[in-house]
This record gives sequence, C-alpha cells and structure tokens, in this order.
Amino acid sequence: MDDRELVKLANEVREKAYAPYSGFKVGAALLCADGTVYTGVNIENAAFGPSICAERTAFFKAISEGQRAFVKIAVTCDRPHCQPCGTCRQVMIEHAPDLEVLMGSLDGSFVRTTIRDLLPEAFKL
Ligand code: THU
Repeated sequence: MDDRELVKLANEVREKAYAPYSGFKVGAALLCADGTVYTGVNIENAAFGPSICAERTAFFKAISEGQRAFVKIAVTCDRPHCQPCGTCRQVMIEHAPDLEVLMGSLDGSFVRTTIRDLLPEAFKL
C-alpha cells in the first residue's frame, strides 16, 4: 500500500461520513505494521458531544481488532490539506508515536508530516 493508494482510500471512504450537522466530511485510512488498512469517517450526533472524528474511528476500529503497531494514516477532506484536530493528535501519539501522517485533499494531493511534528511536547503519563 503506497502513499497515493492510502490517500485514495481515505477519499473513497470519506463519502460514507455521517456529517449532517457540519456538512464537513472527513475520511481516514490507517496502515498497520502487518499491512492491514482500517478506514474511518467522522460520525456526528445531534447532541454534538458524542461525535467522533474520522481518524479516531479508524484507530479505534484497528485497536479493537487487536492491532497495536501502526505505520501511517491518511486523512482527507474538502480542503487543500486536512489537518487532524488536537484530540486526534493526542490519540495518535498514544498508540503510534512514530506515525507518519498524510494530510490529503480531494484531488489526491497530500502533505507528509509526522505525529511528532504535529504534537510536540505531548502529554504522557
Ligand atoms: N473532523 C474530523 O473528522 N477530523 C478532524 O481531525 C477534524 C474534524 C470532523 C469532526 C466534525 O464531524 C467535522 O469534522 C467538523 O468539525
């Protein structure tokens, strides 16, 4: 699974986002060390608080299936490049401190970064 394919997968799954309140659809595709890919979308709720972002959907799907080693995640939305929110960054660094992050767009272009660069001085216990 190369970077372009991962961004493409994130864009494909993005169509499945449940975002009737914001109208802002996000897709994610998480590559695990064993080569498995878990996708995720944002899922909103009328009460707002129970909503979840695409990145955390992908991570929680993977973790609940027993995955513990992660290589990279692609995140896409209708923007030049889709920056993960602070809560998702905290979840990413907990489970994948060496994670690569591909911040993608609908046209398939992306900017490459790492979770360490996105969340310096992260909180840890
Ligand atoms: N959202 C994500 O899915 N990922 C992010 O990193 C930022 C925000 C979602 C949450 C909400 O459903 C919508 O985008 C607007 O904030």
